[in-house]
Amino acid sequence: MAGMGISLRELDPRDRYKLLCGVIVPRPIALVTTLDENGAVNAAPFSFFNVFSESPALIVLGLQHKPDHSPKDTTRNIHRDGEFVVHMVDEALSGAMNDCAVDFPSGDSEVAATGLATLASVDVKVPRLAAAPFALECRRHLVLNFSPDRELLIGEVLRVHAREGLVDEANMYVDLDAYRPIGRMFGNLYTTQRDTFALSRESHAQWLARTQELKDA
Ligand SMILES: Cc1cc2nc3c(=O)[nH]c(=O)nc-3n(C[C@H](O)[C@H](O)[C@H](O)COP(=O)(O)O)c2cc1C
Repeated sequence: MAGMGISLRELDPRDRYKLLCGVIVPRPIALVTTLDENGAVNAAPFSFFNVFSESPALIVLGLQHKPDHSPKDTTRNIHRDGEFVVHMVDEALSGAMNDCAVDFPSGDSEVAATGLATLASVDVKVPRLAAAPFALECRRHLVLNFSPDRELLIGEVLRVHAREGLVDEANMYVDLDAYRPIGRMFGNLYTTQRDTFALSRESHAQWLARTQELKDA
C-alpha cells in the first residue's frame, strides 16, 4: 500500500539482504587475513564492516556462516586464536580481493593461490598483505551472536601499517588521491571514491550568522 514502506519482518531473508545492501551503500571492504591451525594464511573479503569507535579503537565485522551452517574459515580462525589483520582495498587490489572470495576448500590458502606476498605483523602472529594500502592488526574484543548463522565480531585495532606516501603522520592526514579506496555497492558492483566534495561543519552561532546574512541579502 502506498505510504506504508516495506516491512522487513515480512520479507524473506534473501530479499531483506538485497534491499539492505542496495540501500546502505557504499560499504568499505575489509580483506581479512587469519591463520589456520596448520599455519596457512587465509584471506577473505567482508563488507559488513566498519569502524565505530576510536577510544578504544574498534571495528566491526558481520560474519555469516556458510549455507551448511558451519563457520567460514575466517570465523573459525578468529574463534581459535583471536587474531586477524584487516586490509583496506584499493583499486589495484580489487581483483585479488574478489579472488579471495572464491570458496576454496578449507585448508587451501587464498594467499598462496592468488600469489599475494605477505609481511610479518608486529602485535599479532597473522601476516599482513604487502600489496594493501592499509593493514590494521586486530585482536578479537567481543563476539555477539544474533542467530545460529550470524555473528558480529568486534575487534580492537592495535596497529596500522600504511603504504609509503599515504599518511602524513604529523597530522594523520590521509591522501585520498594516493589511497584510491574502493567501496562495495551491491551484488558485484563496486565504486571508486574519486569524486568527493566538502561540506564544512558549523557551530550553531555560525549557522545563525550565515542564515541571517542570506535573509538580509
Ligand atoms: C565484496 C565482498 C564482501 C563480502 N562480505 C561478506 C560479509 O560481510 N560477511 C560474510 O560472511 N561474507 C562476506 N563475503 C563472502 C566471503 O568473502 C566468502 O564467503 C569467503 O569465501 C569466506 O572465506 P573464508 O571461508 O576463507 O573465511 C563477501 C564477499 C565479497 C566478494
